[in-house]
Amino acid sequence: MSGDIISAKAPVNIAVIKYWGKRDEKLLIPLNDSVSASFDMNVMCAKTSVCARPDFVEDKFWLNGVEQSFNNPRLINCLLKIKNIAAEQQSVEKDFLKWKVHICSENNFPTAAGLASSAAGYACLTTALAQLYKINTDLSVVARLGSGSASRSIYGGFVRWYSGTKPDGSDSVSKQVVDAQYWSEMRVLILVVSETQKHISSLDGMKITAETSELIKHRVAVSVPSRVEKMCAAIKQKDFATFAELTMKDSNEFHAVCLSAYPPCIYLTETSYRIIEIIHFYNKMCGSPKVAYTFDAGPNACLYLLEDEVPRVLSLINYFFPSSNKDFVKGLPCPTLENVDFLKNSEKDPIGNDLLKYVIYTKLGDGPIILNDGDHLLNECGEPM
Ligand code: DP6
Repeated sequence: MSGDIISAKAPVNIAVIKYWGKRDEKLLIPLNDSVSASFDMNVMCAKTSVCARPDFVEDKFWLNGVEQSFNNPRLINCLLKIKNIAAEQQSVEKDFLKWKVHICSENNFPTAAGLASSAAGYACLTTALAQLYKINTDLSVVARLGSGSASRSIYGGFVRWYSGTKPDGSDSVSKQVVDAQYWSEMRVLILVVSETQKHISSLDGMKITAETSELIKHRVAVSVPSRVEKMCAAIKQKDFATFAELTMKDSNEFHAVCLSAYPPCIYLTETSYRIIEIIHFYNKMCGSPKVAYTFDAGPNACLYLLEDEVPRVLSLINYFFPSSNKDFVKGLPCPTLENVDFLKNSEKDPIGNDLLKYVIYTKLGDGPIILNDGDHLLNECGEPM
């Protein structure tokens, strides 16, 4: 019915093979394929409500309770793309397309954590708008117009985003590799580091890197294509050791490429490097990779590991990064920690107090869903609650 409020929820994703660099800046078409996992929406998600009415005087957008300017080319591109498809598919009345929209969006995780929220946000917005305008299309292409990585949040489990070859980006789509239940033992620990430093946005970082780095050419032409194939095979075979090695190598290469930009894009901090060291120390001690780290365009680490490793790895983190935060582990219930005598005997000292703000413990999850009535962020008048 016209005037209805539609609400959706969408997951956060963190790449194990990173997207870095665009071949089309307006259409957000990437230089290389990437692979990520979407996380459990019960722990972290974006939620969005949308509504179109004949009496709305202008398009309006609220994010985390604060009204934002609608004059945002990415937001406008997503909305226009959906309206164009709706017009083509004649999925709604012509008048409906002229009505203004109200969009209200929220993340259930602190934006201050510096975690990529735009991927979940645009996947959520796209899902809600597609339902509002009743269109039937590959939503990974539409979400991509909001933020490249949002293309992957359209699916749950492990997802591959193809760079494609067409100039219009119509083949730059995401596809699920396996669903969230396939490798159900997979777990994720996000280590939110304490220092807040201003860093270059992904948008600017990619641009500088694509324009000035010699190394990115090798990454795009040689390393990533073969690594993506190996990664998808490792996921399908649930081969953790290979998965972990490829994840860490890709993160390291991505940051080396960023450092090779001129001026360099520096995202890792002293704490990030200490985390890398500890994970290699632990994996070596175990005799094979049991934990993989990966870092986006910021200092926070995302650790991928299997469920039975979680108590030991959390104990390890607790030992090296003692915290005064009583609520240090958020998300899934924190398992009982194990004793760390094995570390005390290794002559490795704790690194420092309160270098981590907190840890988010989560697992893989499904793709976006439409929410039931009664779960809206807009009231009956189409205004934020
Ligand atoms: C390092 O998707 O945020 O997280 O397309 O400009 O919105 P835009 O960039 P964005 O970049 C994400 C970069 C990354 C790697 C990744 O998620 O693959």
